[in-house]
Amino acid sequence: MLHRAGRLDPRLDRRALLRLLGGASAGAAGLALFGACGDGGGPGGDLDARILSDGAVCRATTADVLGPYHRAGAPSRMMIAAATEAGDRLALDGVVLADDCATPLVGAMLDVWQADASGAYHEPTAAGGPYRLRGKLATAADGTWMLDTVRPGNYQTGPGAWRPAHVHVIVSHPGYRTVTTQLYFAGDPYLPPNDSCTSCGSDDPARIIALTPRAGGGLAGALRVVLARV
Ligand SMILES: [Fe+2]
Repeated sequence: MLHRAGRLDPRLDRRALLRLLGGASAGAAGLALFGACGDGGGPGGDLDARILSDGAVCRATTADVLGPYHRAGAPSRMMIAAATEAGDRLALDGVVLADDCATPLVGAMLDVWQADASGAYHEPTAAGGPYRLRGKLATAADGTWMLDTVRPGNYQTGPGAWRPAHVHVIVSHPGYRTVTTQLYFAGDPYLPPNDSCTSCGSDDPARIIALTPRAGGGLAGALRVVLARV
């Protein structure tokens, strides 16, 4: 049987909580259920976790800043970067799970958008084709998804201020709380403490993925998404 964990003191520092959750072991108690952060913003996002019947901790994927470049109406497709798109090809995959960290969610929707290899976003009507580097996809019967793209570049938000490379995604499924988040790449020099976005959640190790070379070229990485119930 699942049960809600208790509420921690909301004055606790979020990064301290992430360290706690990241290092939580079976039987850990008193994990946080924070109030809604909401799309678009707020420091880092929710920290929802459940302690399962065996004492293991199941964390929901944390929210991140929406940013200014989401555009509704992206087409359904796995390949969001055309074959002519410059940059390192990147194969992303993963799974969307319920809040027991085990049950796959079939038909979960992922709305994905990202910058190109130079760090530039493209409007849906800009040269290069409609909805360049944007797309929606649904999870299969086993909760898995796959995405064919290029590795996004870092971009500057001000003089000497850079963001770590990232892919934006909104994940939704009926009966579960929609999460707006970002995934990052291990080894990026602009991960915290160097991220210019101090309200972003780029310090969450659950969303910093390792990229590995693929046979035949390009890179691959995987992200596990866990949705909290409404
Ligand atoms: Fe962005």
